[in-house]
Amino acid sequence: MRILGIESSCDETGLAVYCTERGLLGQALHSQVDMHERYGGVVPELASRDHVRRVVPLARQALADSGLTIADLDGIAWTEGPGLAGALLVGAAVGASLAWALGRPGIGVHHLEGHLLSPLLADDPPPMPFTALLVSGGHTQLLAVEGLGRYRLLGDTLDDAAGEAFDKSAKLLGLGYPGGPALSRLAAQGTPARFRLPRPMLNDPGLDFSFSGLKTAVRTQVARGIGSESDRASLALEVESAITEVLAVKAVRALHDSGHRRLVVAGGVSANRQLRERLGQAAQREGFGVWFPPPALCTDNGAMIAFAGALRLQALARLGQLPAVPCGFTVKPRWPLHELE
Ligand code: KG4
Ligand code: ZN
Repeated sequence: MRILGIESSCDETGLAVYCTERGLLGQALHSQVDMHERYGGVVPELASRDHVRRVVPLARQALADSGLTIADLDGIAWTEGPGLAGALLVGAAVGASLAWALGRPGIGVHHLEGHLLSPLLADDPPPMPFTALLVSGGHTQLLAVEGLGRYRLLGDTLDDAAGEAFDKSAKLLGLGYPGGPALSRLAAQGTPARFRLPRPMLNDPGLDFSFSGLKTAVRTQVARGIGSESDRASLALEVESAITEVLAVKAVRALHDSGHRRLVVAGGVSANRQLRERLGQAAQREGFGVWFPPPALCTDNGAMIAFAGALRLQALARLGQLPAVPCGFTVKPRWPLHELE
């Protein structure tokens, strides 16, 4: 089964073809980061218009990269939610129209399920069940993954997401958008323990997170004055340490709760070097396995949508319930992952 995946929920237009027999065949991606940077964040209307401009040329590019023509596709998958309504509508409209024109099944995919399953695109994928730490610009969740579509929420953020904490702290430090990667690069030159920021909810017994207090602490420190460029790097390092320490400690605690021996980390923040190091060390110490997506698939992309769509269509085909050729579509800008079946 060869499935074209379309991702357009935020500021990346991602197209890819996944084949259930041969794996990922080809992909094409455009990031709007440069366009949004001068506004300090994503401008939804600009995002939608750019998706409109890019989606068809990128679909052609992904097909060419795969060595396929459009007639070779067995189905189309697109991101149905959550995300920006106008941006989602672009991918859904193109995906459903394409499926209708080809007379093939089409399926709307949950963006976070795409992230969640993306580590399975690695060479040595983890078997289910596993516990997942999902850390992106909009989400920070711990989930028990018992099987495809069987996701139990273990912990969530009460306010800012981990990626948001990176982005907002980066902005306070005068770094561009998105701040996560830039802050992490600056942190590499920092001196440990030069500053001390709070580890929000670290010692609370539950698995929930809160990151808005951290941002306030960074703001207070910046207002007091940071000093030299090397101090700025040290503060960046402390921000990175505070966020990744809380994430790592709670992820290990979640494994104890779920009883799983495997941890999967996904979403944009899973690219973070310090988070990977901490979880790698914890895995060695505690004897569990840890999996990350291939670096190129950490942030938004079409491959994870093609892959999740292919697994979904394959499961439905086994049940003799392949969806009909679509003659309409919906998007769900708000769509909790644990509402999936
Ligand atoms: O999953 P993603 O591409 O988009 C959402 O669905 O939100 O995640 C984007 C987030 C941004 O907040 C970005 O700053 C963060 O992931 N991010 C990082 C790194 N790379 C991306 N944060 C920390 N360190 C990184 N290396
Ligand atoms: Zn995402």
